[in-house]
Amino acid sequence: MLVKDFKVIFEKHREGAPTFPVPDFPEEYDLPPELARTAPLNLPEVPENEVVRHYVRLSQKNWGVDIGFYPLGSCTMKYNPKFNEDVSRLPGFTHLHPHAPEHLVQGALRLMYDLQEYLKRLTGFSGATLQPVAGASGELTGIFIIKAYLRHRGETERDEVLIPDSAHGTNPATASMAGFKAIEVRSNSNGTLDVEDLKSKLSDRTVGLMITNPNTLGLFERDIRRITDLVHEAGGQVYMDGANYNALMGWVSLADLGIDVVHLNLHKTFSTPHGGGGPGAGVVLVKEHLWPFVPVPTVEYDEERGMYHLNWDRPLSIGKVHAFYGHFLVAIRAYAYILSMGGEGLRQAAADAVLNANYLRHLLEGEYKVAYPTRNMHEFVLTGMPIKRDTGVRTYDIAKRLLDYGFHAPTVYFPLIVPEAMMIEPTETETKETLEAFADTLIKIKREAYENPDLVKTAPHETPVRRLDEVKAAKQLKVKWEG
Ligand SMILES: Cc1ncc(COP(=O)(O)O)c(C=O)c1O
Repeated sequence: MLVKDFKVIFEKHREGAPTFPVPDFPEEYDLPPELARTAPLNLPEVPENEVVRHYVRLSQKNWGVDIGFYPLGSCTMKYNPKFNEDVSRLPGFTHLHPHAPEHLVQGALRLMYDLQEYLKRLTGFSGATLQPVAGASGELTGIFIIKAYLRHRGETERDEVLIPDSAHGTNPATASMAGFKAIEVRSNSNGTLDVEDLKSKLSDRTVGLMITNPNTLGLFERDIRRITDLVHEAGGQVYMDGANYNALMGWVSLADLGIDVVHLNLHKTFSTPHGGGGPGAGVVLVKEHLWPFVPVPTVEYDEERGMYHLNWDRPLSIGKVHAFYGHFLVAIRAYAYILSMGGEGLRQAAADAVLNANYLRHLLEGEYKVAYPTRNMHEFVLTGMPIKRDTGVRTYDIAKRLLDYGFHAPTVYFPLIVPEAMMIEPTETETKETLEAFADTLIKIKREAYENPDLVKTAPHETPVRRLDEVKAAKQLKVKWEG
């Protein structure tokens, strides 16, 4: 929300307008005097209908996947069935108290347990925790697990985590937050990991490799088996950033690729809307040798008692990584999504995501330069360098101009190894007509760049707000009325 809009609600204040009802608690529930307020809260007094209109108007100025195409690469902004939302809002779930005794929450525990089992079956791993609450949180959990494992084996000298230069920024941030050095590994001319460069950086200091597959260029790491063998031979572990799992669901056993630990973003792949910073879930899956180290409590099933329970008795665990058990409502959506899609449905969704991305690339590649012109997985990356060179119009300008035509922009300037990058992920939920309309629009904007560059450089022209100072908006965000 813009500060300007936030102010409006305060500016609508009119003394005496109907506001909160006066509480009528019985006397015996009165707060002790030392806890009671001495002065009224400084809240605006605004009639209910004006508040509703204000916020509905604001929501109409916003962009979302329920309004239109949102091809934000690496973010998997797919349409999520509303049914899964409804299920996660059932009062039986939302009214649960996290301190409720186990015997009263068997249904919730079973849901978490079964979800873990489905994800284990899909990926080929033998252990899981739902506790991390984002991709980045899953990464940190995974690297802490590897750290605990290596320390337990007495390998305290290892302090280097190898990370491809195409990786998401959370990977090196994770390595350094876990107390390790992030060592960059080059990509080769095909956009995948350069195995020779990897070899030259492996040593007895290697903690492991963090690899994203498909990588952030939308390319499957074809040498993955060789890569994981090399890391293991050097005594390291392999962490997979599974944020792009939408392309692989049901097709690949990650465990068979030689991965030791992976996180999946339930908020991208498994039906939780994603954006605005959360809430999410970065479920972590591990092979057997890492299971003793996962966060407590683990959700387990006790055959003897015929009950689901939380196991806190895990002496080698890294401890807790989040309050309670993570974002439970996100787990419910994932559970509902998996059950309603079924195994075949998930495979189909992944295949359609890949098909859509390849079709869109095909529509654009005669007009835009594809950074790595090869068959891609769920996303692909264009470079705006030729257009910038010829016209001075940058990728940033093209992204802004797209808004005028009713499309959300793709991810821009990422991955960092592609200059003037446009990273496009259409997802499986878009129609052929939408993909074609988007491609036509990008091509039209390219023509505008050559014919009337200023029109593109000053876009957007049709949105409720024009160009913002995005750095200032992020760094000096004001959300408090100080009037
Ligand atoms: C490849 C990759 N890794 C990690 C992350 C981090 O996930 P989160 O934003 O949930 O922390 C993202 C997020 O977009 C990503 O694209």
